[in-house]
Amino acid sequence: MAVDILIGLQWGDEGKGKIVDVLAPTYDIVARFQGGPNAGHTLEFEGTKHVLHQIPSGIFHPHIQNIIGNGVVLDPIVFRVEMQKLQDRGVDATQNLFVSKKASLILPSHRVLDRVSEEALGNDKIGSTLKGIGPTYQDKIGRVGLRVGDVLADNFKERYEKLVDRHRKTVEFYGKTLELGEEEQKFFEAVEYLRTLQIVDTEYMINEAIQSGKKILAEGAQGSLLDVDFGTYPFVTSSTTLVAGACTGLGVAPRHIGEVYGIFKAYCTRVGSGPFPTELLDQVGEDIRQAGREFGSTTGRPRRCGWVDLPSLKYSIMLNGVTQLNMMKADVLTEFDTIKVCTHYKLASGEITDHLPHSLDTETVEPIYEELPGWRVDLNKIDTVEDLPAAFVNYLNFLEDQLQVPITIVSVGPDRKSTLKRESEKVA
Ligand code: GDP
Ligand code: IMO
Ligand code: MG
Repeated sequence: MAVDILIGLQWGDEGKGKIVDVLAPTYDIVARFQGGPNAGHTLEFEGTKHVLHQIPSGIFHPHIQNIIGNGVVLDPIVFRVEMQKLQDRGVDATQNLFVSKKASLILPSHRVLDRVSEEALGNDKIGSTLKGIGPTYQDKIGRVGLRVGDVLADNFKERYEKLVDRHRKTVEFYGKTLELGEEEQKFFEAVEYLRTLQIVDTEYMINEAIQSGKKILAEGAQGSLLDVDFGTYPFVTSSTTLVAGACTGLGVAPRHIGEVYGIFKAYCTRVGSGPFPTELLDQVGEDIRQAGREFGSTTGRPRRCGWVDLPSLKYSIMLNGVTQLNMMKADVLTEFDTIKVCTHYKLASGEITDHLPHSLDTETVEPIYEELPGWRVDLNKIDTVEDLPAAFVNYLNFLEDQLQVPITIVSVGPDRKSTLKRESEKVA
């Protein structure tokens, strides 16, 4: 099969950027299919850390073509800054980056709309990254949005003004005034820059690549529990973060999908509001946050931390048809004598289940834990799977047994090299 997909199984920040970068050399194309600058994908190699927001994580491999697909919402201002940062680090992405004509454009006024609608929600706020994601997808679905291909037309400015006019009225509805200041000028400069890049019909590019036997890796953003349909609604993002999103977000038919890598942390994190059954509000949670440096790559916000949650992982595996699991940040749990795993939820009615209730938001669930012994060995210092401590292998086996999917990659540090491949025949 030509198209493999890497999907976050939790609430994002699982380590997708790192693994895409590790797997990339075996692919011809890496493509983003949804989300936008709300994503922050971190890659580390040769002592340097890179955070990508909209540019696919295959960009550091010059032979790989990188695609920003039609399902993405693209902020030209953020994009230009990202391209400049790469340039400053000696990476010229202009030749191996392709942007879909059908990707949606984030305008400065979309960011304002994001802010005013969050403010209006008060205590019910989503905890959005405020990058304009929701309002831009709203305009897309409302069939009034602007797309990357529109920047090539003569009437772009006119169409921009028409859309901003709509936004002005919405901002006024919230009792605020739309003030864009220098952002508007920055936007047009960034659009000018975007025009010089390879803006193409990426759906043709990808399908021609499939026909000629090339291999494609689709890079998910956010995580399955932030999916607009199946996530912890309304505390979700505004796109389809599941495998299905790769089909619509790239123009790929389902029959071309091969491996589905499901990526999860050895524990669990969430940033922003919304339910999180295994959240640890005590010192253990704080210890995980410190050991895992759990602060957002995009907003710098502290991430909420908790134990691994099997009912939600099973749900994500089911929805995505995951064929291989990648466990990240195993090294972070070194200091714990006991590792807890939530195997079931106890509902308010007393029922014990491993299914997610209709709404985790309104239904209070009590996690039921199984305790496993910790390993107390610094996994970051381990180079081969054979040297992994028995207690850690026990943890892996327990999870594989529960989830019924092999864990083929274990990540033991942020660097590209801190990656252990198990059962290597299953890894692309
Ligand atoms: P993404 O959004 O899924 O790409 O993940 P982020 O980049 O937002 O967050 C993952 C964070 O964990 C980044 O700071 C990575 O450098 C770091 N990271 C990734 N894998 C590992 C690992 O195995 N161990 C440790 N300690 N850090 C890791
Ligand atoms: P990556 O790709 C973690 C969260 C926000 C908020 C909710 C809605 O790095 O894993 P939005 O800005 O999309 O309207 O915010 O989704 N969120 C993420 N959390 N990682 C991400 O991306 C996220 N992108 C959005 O915190 O709760
Ligand atoms: Mg992230």
